[in-house]
Amino acid sequence: MERSLILIKPDGVQRGLVGPILGRFEARGLKIVALRLVQVPTELAERHYAVHQGKPFYEGLVEYITSSPVVAMVLEGTNAVAAVRKTVGATRSFEADPGTIRGDLALEVGRNLVHASDAPETAEEEIALWFRDDDLVDYSRDTDAWIFEEGR
Ligand code: RTP
Ligand code: MG
Repeated sequence: MERSLILIKPDGVQRGLVGPILGRFEARGLKIVALRLVQVPTELAERHYAVHQGKPFYEGLVEYITSSPVVAMVLEGTNAVAAVRKTVGATRSFEADPGTIRGDLALEVGRNLVHASDAPETAEEEIALWFRDDDLVDYSRDTDAWIFEEGR
């Protein structure tokens, strides 16, 4: 079963959208395997966004993600990485389709509410960056068989 690292960015927490955003992932059937509120240290922000170092928006991005707490989580499910990205919508919020989180709740690229891993390999790296192994909880839900064809 695939896992993805998701952050509800500072604008999501400040705007009181943690519940509605988390609710969309839960409603889709994704399983929460780790969850915590984090005031992001600059060093963690720089490691998380290392791939964007040198780009014109990099400094603003680090400032944005460290400006107020984020909610970090690991979600698990069938093709979780791709499913979460679809639910989140296009990076540039003003281009995101209606029905997606960004398309319904955001307007700008620099206030786009959510981070989501972009590939299974990056997801594994990001999960290791944000969580310790023993933060990831292994459990099954009574509903799993109604969400996953191979449900436990
Ligand atoms: P994320 O990493 O946050 O899930 O977003 P993403 O994959 O859709 O976008 P990515 O290309 O990884 O960019 C990371 C974040 O940087 C900000 N950004 N600003 N001003 C700009 O042109 C620009 N481009 C990207 C966004 O906050 C984006 O989510
Ligand atoms: Mg990205």
